[in-house]
Amino acid sequence: MSDLRSFLKQLEEKNDLIKIKEPLSAKLEVAAALQRFDAGKVLLFEKVKGYDVKVVGGVCGTRDRILHGLGINAKDLYPHLQQALKNPTRCEVVENGPVTEVVEEGDLTKIPVLTHFNGDPGPFITSGILYAKSPDGRIENVSYHRLMVMDPRRMTIRIVPRHLHRLTQLARQAGVKTLDCCISIGLHPAVLLSASIPAVWGVCEYDVANNLLGGSLKIVRCRHVDALAPADAELVLECRIRLDEDVDEGPFVDLSGTYDVKRKQPVVELVGIIHRKDYTYHGLLPGGSEHMLLMGMPPEVRIWEYCMNVVPTVSGVNMTLGGNGWLHCVVAFDKVREGDPKNVLMAIFAAHPSLKHAVVVDSDIDPYNMQEVEWAIATRFKGDEDLLVIPNTRVSSLDPTADQQQELGCKVGFDATRPFSKPKEKFMKGEIAVSNRVKKILDKYS
Ligand SMILES: Cc1cc2nc3c(=O)[nH]c(=O)nc-3n(C[C@H](O)[C@H](O)[C@H](O)COP(=O)(O)O)c2cc1C
Repeated sequence: MSDLRSFLKQLEEKNDLIKIKEPLSAKLEVAAALQRFDAGKVLLFEKVKGYDVKVVGGVCGTRDRILHGLGINAKDLYPHLQQALKNPTRCEVVENGPVTEVVEEGDLTKIPVLTHFNGDPGPFITSGILYAKSPDGRIENVSYHRLMVMDPRRMTIRIVPRHLHRLTQLARQAGVKTLDCCISIGLHPAVLLSASIPAVWGVCEYDVANNLLGGSLKIVRCRHVDALAPADAELVLECRIRLDEDVDEGPFVDLSGTYDVKRKQPVVELVGIIHRKDYTYHGLLPGGSEHMLLMGMPPEVRIWEYCMNVVPTVSGVNMTLGGNGWLHCVVAFDKVREGDPKNVLMAIFAAHPSLKHAVVVDSDIDPYNMQEVEWAIATRFKGDEDLLVIPNTRVSSLDPTADQQQELGCKVGFDATRPFSKPKEKFMKGEIAVSNRVKKILDKYS
């Protein structure tokens, strides 16, 4: 199954979903609950004050849950995503789907769009994936873009200069004033993750998702604009991006949990809406674990690829939640030569230019367990030999210590692998033998 509701049903059966029955407001109250339970169970808000629509949050809020959605183990993640990126599978276009049950003109104020933080200038749609294509129809693209609701029919959109930005430029060059698009909300984790992957220009991220879903993702033609949307989405906003008008966008709490600056950004006009009769709205908390994992997992694939070129024994890559899923990375691998770790550090930085700090550890350390990583830094890292400092280099605009205008800062790499110059035993933890009898007793209590 490739839709959100079948995934939520599975989570309910696994006791990984909490239903909140008390009415909460879309203004700050739902966001407060999402923040309180961040990185925990999925929350389904059954009553949102003033709306007849359920809201769900935390869908991709843990690594395990994303892996469950993809139906794979942690060790298979990177080869799995890599093959999907290399073999996008064209989605079948169907005339109707669950999302076309209701076709209407629409009104943005009737959707429970969340206002997340005290200083937000308005409600922001944060889980929507936007489909648009080039004027000649040859290039299709899907990517996330936050949208601030201005009134019943208008939003502002944040477009970082990447593929959608390029499509708007092509549209301008073709002399048109608007670009048709659709924004899909309420999707399966495979679709959510694919939309955050920077696939190469010309690859439609729906087709990457379709590969991950074994060819089961169908798409429908929108009813009001020239765009395609997943047939089993919960809700699709059919829109036009205006190419002749920029207005204030933000401030918005971004990945780092701090307010991003206000910018001039394009306006998006709502043309119509299609949705399931009883659609569920997906509210994604900015700066929450869901945001960080969806941002951080795609770079992990590239980092894995680059590091595998240096050492063929990479056992894990973690864009850590403490580093906002964007600024910190831990890579575990089997060191063969004393010089490997610094080469791996350079590969990590080359693979993800926004990175600020990277740590490399031996493969007996779990890179997803930060207490183990810190233990490796405490016992296997020596500052005068194992530190790699790269001053005046490109970093993320999210790093407040950097020159954020020029994105110029400092990268630091930590080689927390055990040195070969001393006996291995010096760096290994003592072990306790556990018999089957003791294990059985202990299992009963855990
Ligand atoms: C939850 C989430 C929110 C995002 N918000 C935005 C945004 O507002 N604007 C933007 O340009 N990119 C945003 N991104 C990043 C892009 O979706 C991502 O970089 C994508 O790979 C770009 O696609 P492209 O390579 O096809 O251009 C967001 C990503 C996630 C996971």
